[in-house]
Amino acid sequence: MSMGAISAAYIAAAILFILSLSGLSNQETAKRGNWYGIIGMGIAVIATILNPNVDSYVWLILACLIGGGIGAHFAKKVEMTQMPELIAILHSFVGMAAVLVGFASYFDPITAASLHGAAATIHSVEVYLGILIGAVTFTGSVVAFGKLNGKIGSKPLLLPIRHQLNLGAIVLWVLICWWFLAVGHEGGTLPLILMTLIAFAFGVHMVMAIGGADMPVVISMLNSYSGWAAAATGFMLSNDLLIVVGALVGSSGAILSYIMCRAMNRQFFSVIMGGFGNAPTANDDTEEHGEAVAIQADEVAQLIGDAERVVIVPGYGMAVANAQHAVSDLIKQLRDKGINVQFAIHPVAGRMPGHMNVLLAEANVPYDIVLEMDEINDELNEVDVVMVIGANDIVNPAALENPNSPIAGMPVLEVWNAKTVIVSKRSMATGYAGVENPLFFKENTRMLFGDAKDSVDGIKSSL
Ligand code: TAP
Repeated sequence: MSMGAISAAYIAAAILFILSLSGLSNQETAKRGNWYGIIGMGIAVIATILNPNVDSYVWLILACLIGGGIGAHFAKKVEMTQMPELIAILHSFVGMAAVLVGFASYFDPITAASLHGAAATIHSVEVYLGILIGAVTFTGSVVAFGKLNGKIGSKPLLLPIRHQLNLGAIVLWVLICWWFLAVGHEGGTLPLILMTLIAFAFGVHMVMAIGGADMPVVISMLNSYSGWAAAATGFMLSNDLLIVVGALVGSSGAILSYIMCRAMNRQFFSVIMGGFGNAPTANDDTEEHGEAVAIQADEVAQLIGDAERVVIVPGYGMAVANAQHAVSDLIKQLRDKGINVQFAIHPVAGRMPGHMNVLLAEANVPYDIVLEMDEINDELNEVDVVMVIGANDIVNPAALENPNSPIAGMPVLEVWNAKTVIVSKRSMATGYAGVENPLFFKENTRMLFGDAKDSVDGIKSSL
């Protein structure tokens, strides 16, 4: 394939990736967006393989088969609830790839011999930044993976000198960069390895310091970092497509981090500094709660059957119970009876951005009745019954009512303003942030204990 044809293929792939991103911004066009992405990636891989500079086809095909085989195996096996951890570990691969390409590019004798003066300095800076961002992304994503699958506790690690440690790492990176550029290609290995080790430690420390409720921001932040790591790799390899794709992922991840911060009412830097969503402390919840009142499925059926307007608030527990299809059948039954049913989606419900929207789309819930938090929060006082299905932190009034709560200030769905609130969950356990929920003890709240799917099936049959 000529270089002209490869450039044309790369431009086509870049356009398809942009169309893919715009398609993914809306549920109705998301499927099409996915296809654009798949075709774009197919074109990019084929054009790269057919590049005249590629000569070791055996290695390339072997690597594609092994990598593709492992990817296909895990993509098929992974449960919907494990999706966030899968994304976190995939980010770590991008980070590690950037580190390896950085070192390979640094040790490549042909590159070293062909670059002189300013071009050599620019390449060295590209290598340095690529490895740095890649190393932080790698260990940060591995820790995020551990936190999301519960192998590492969600409680933030708050070392007393953590800000000094972070500042020290940044100062060291600047000094080592100066050393790396000063010694030239001959003696650069030691500073490069030192910087990489500090970056690995920094990635671990940064994500360990972030508390449970801030994980949505961390995921989108690492998504952004993985994009910048890919863009840096593109600069090292002089690959325009990688630069464009990396910049697209980097900037969309940054925008998502901003949206997540707004959803949590947090400043990006205070998230990075850590601490939010800490496990409850002695003084965060001093109120006497009283008793929670349980309810049975047939009584819930009676309540919602008599209601005019019902709002369903899904959360992580709906994903765990795989209850979305049962919920979809239930709302069909209710809508057939002429009851107005809507869904209220909190921006950080579940464990990944858009988690609930994906589940509801999978269960064919009509898009027009799925509303974002800001669209429906003010109307909840006009609702007869709110059904909270497997959600906890996102409906916790302590965020608004208790300034000492670890999640104080986080916007939540104010479901307690409805006439009656039904909470479907298995026990009185806390949610991801580990914070007690006073909603369960409010006068108009009834607890429907049990697995969400069994409970919804019970309501359906009673209806
Ligand atoms: P959570 O606060 O985690 O609450 C989920 C609730 O579901 C739990 O209290 C649990 O109670 C219940 N549950 C679990 N399995 C169940 C089952 N089989 N049937 C019925 N209930 C079940 O979830 P949320 O309200 O969706 O809030 C999301 C939390 O995750 C926030 O703190 C958010 O910051 C964090 N987070 C979000 C993201 C993104 S991007 N969305 C990423 C990482 C972290 P029982 O054990 O009593 O059943």
